[in-house]
Amino acid sequence: MSRIVYVDGQYVNEADAKISVFDRGFLFADAVYEVTAVLNSKLVEFAGHLERLQRSCRELSLTMPVAPAQLKTIHEELIKKNNLVEGGIYLQISRGNAGDRDFAFPGAEVKPTLVLFTQSRPVIDSPKVKTGIKVVTMPDIRWHRRDIKTVGLLAPCLAKEYAHANDADDAFLVENGFITEGSSSNAYIVLADNTIVTRPLSNDILHGITRKALLVLAARDGIKVEERLFTPDEAYHAKEAFISSATTFVWPVVSIDGKPVGDGKPGPISLRLRDIYVELAKAEVA
Ligand code: PDD
Repeated sequence: MSRIVYVDGQYVNEADAKISVFDRGFLFADAVYEVTAVLNSKLVEFAGHLERLQRSCRELSLTMPVAPAQLKTIHEELIKKNNLVEGGIYLQISRGNAGDRDFAFPGAEVKPTLVLFTQSRPVIDSPKVKTGIKVVTMPDIRWHRRDIKTVGLLAPCLAKEYAHANDADDAFLVENGFITEGSSSNAYIVLADNTIVTRPLSNDILHGITRKALLVLAARDGIKVEERLFTPDEAYHAKEAFISSATTFVWPVVSIDGKPVGDGKPGPISLRLRDIYVELAKAEVA
């Protein structure tokens, strides 16, 4: 089914959508993005995604092309136009079309490009919840402002390729001996006493919206959380491991570098966290 997408104020058929070859998103990855989950035709945690988008824009001196309230309306309109029930919405803001290739930022007369499209897919009944995912570790070769959600995603693309070539679903990225995050998710391990460990917020990782909610939910559920660095070796010996993102919510990790995590099956803490996050999301979209 052909989608209706949004490009700079217009809702058009995906086949008719056009972006200039001079768009700075295309030439320089000079653009930021967000992916918001959709359940029951409604947005999940939109306020958090909007806040992070505004921060990404601020960090790059990128002007938001429309007011925040209007962004929400565009998301909702796109859900309606595509009859989207479950999946996600991708939003991208680039520094626009400066009419040529020039590294320097263009003047204020060049307007940012705003693009949104929908993706329909099962979020709640994803098969990965039952099977878990296999990950491999590899060096984190990304730039040093991973807290900004930019479209410069070649390193995560290479990471997914490396994972697939090595009989895995995804990668845990390693820097200076410690796991930073997944290639497009935050990474966690669960210790023998059921404490969850995840890397603290810094410029080294994306400040996940799902991560933020999960840490609050875990504490409320009496699960201890430690925000600290952890090594691949600690992950190999963990009782459980899992990832979180707006597209996966929580997916258990069942092996790392070919070694089973715990008993090699999705663990109870990972599944409990998934359940309580799904409850939270469902309550929001009820
Ligand atoms: N990725 N870390 C990285 C590097 C990510 O790309 C993502 C999300 C996350 C999780 O953030 P959140 O919980 O806010 O989705 C962490 C999105 C889903 C993507 O690129 O498709």
